[in-house]
Amino acid sequence: MRWWDIDPVLELERELFPEDAWSAGMFWAELASARGPDATRRYLVAEAPDGSLVGYGGLAAVAGTGDIQTIGILAAHRGTGLGSRLLRALLRAATDFECGEVLLEVRVDNAPAQRLYERFGFAPLGIRRGYYQPANVDALVMRLADPESYAAAADAPAPDAGRGAPDDAPPNPSPPSSPHSPPTTHQGTNTHG
Ligand SMILES: CC(C)(COP(=O)(O)OP(=O)(O)OC[C@H]1O[C@@H](n2cnc3c(N)ncnc32)[C@H](O)[C@@H]1OP(=O)(O)O)[C@@H](O)C(=O)NCCC(=O)NCCS
Repeated sequence: MRWWDIDPVLELERELFPEDAWSAGMFWAELASARGPDATRRYLVAEAPDGSLVGYGGLAAVAGTGDIQTIGILAAHRGTGLGSRLLRALLRAATDFECGEVLLEVRVDNAPAQRLYERFGFAPLGIRRGYYQPANVDALVMRLADPESYAAAADAPAPDAGRGAPDDAPPNPSPPSSPHSPPTTHQGTNTHG
């Protein structure tokens, strides 16, 4: 993701996370930490063949721990493996950042996202009460202990992918653009991944 992606990403953001969408400033702050030798973020976008953005995701890396900051695919493009490709690319980023573990928060009522994470080896770690505001919804905290093994499987069938290894069949939209500059944390804001 580069700065010129922020406006289209914001449109997706408002559609995907209407209750607690990030602001432009938050994305700018993330991208500021995504470049250079001291980068701690990686943000990626998924483009359709016509060049429109249909998804995005971001990872923060701090002291050997990765954190999925956000991940989302436009509804019309879900169920084709794009989310899996994005997540795998983020785990590859975690490996690049030498993270020994990756954490994330997900709404307790978000079953599709939890299934995605479970397929990638994430396991429940605990609950954060009222993490998502103003809806006051709890977050399930999940942890992946060995991101490297799942990142390494990037070009192979998804590990225990269950029904139809998503990466076996290239999705319609083009795969996530190459790791674009990564990003940052959103000051004081909850993560979407
Ligand atoms: C969670 C999310 C990112 C998943 O994205 P996605 O692109 O649909 O993910 P995938 O396509 O890789 O997998 C979704 C399902 O499609 C299936 N699938 C993928 N490719 C497939 C294919 N070629 N044929 C058949 N099924 C396929 C997967 O097995 C999976 O099935 P399951 O839900 O029963 O386990 C998406 O639902 C989303 O953006 N949700 C809204 C935002 C959100 O909640 N983000 C997470 C915040 S924590």
